[in-house]
Amino acid sequence: MLRTISALVVMGFVASLGDVAQAQGNVEAGRVAAERWCAECHVISAEDTKALVGTPSFFALAEDSSRTDDYLRAAITSPHPPMPNPDLPARTVDDLIAYIRSLR
Ligand code: HEC
Repeated sequence: MLRTISALVVMGFVASLGDVAQAQGNVEAGRVAAERWCAECHVISAEDTKALVGTPSFFALAEDSSRTDDYLRAAITSPHPPMPNPDLPARTVDDLIAYIRSLR
């Protein structure tokens, strides 16, 4: 709950800065979104050790330069079995990409 509130505060703060500061997505908001939507199957951080067999860790995604931002955006917005389509807002997708990039 606290985490959700702080995420909302962060997002509200970033939103208030406008698009200049937010053009490329917010790493911290992306981390919060990854914990919520992705950690069940993917390794999303150094502390996260559980993953569904066959899922690439977010570190592997970050290091693979053939996975461009557009590629990641497509992968995140099209449902990949067994992941149900979470229908994430475009900003959250940008945040997730920023977070993945930060792991490089
Ligand atoms: C219910 C399990 C599950 C959840 C939740 C999940 N994924 Fe995945 N993901 C997978 C599996 C399994 C694969 C590998 C198979 C595939 O690519 O379809 C994968 C692959 C990927 C890939 C690589 C696709 C490729 O072709 O290289 C990306 C990027 C990705 N997931 C991002 C995410 C993000 C971001 C989230 C959170 C918003 C997420 N996933 C949530 C199961 C999941």
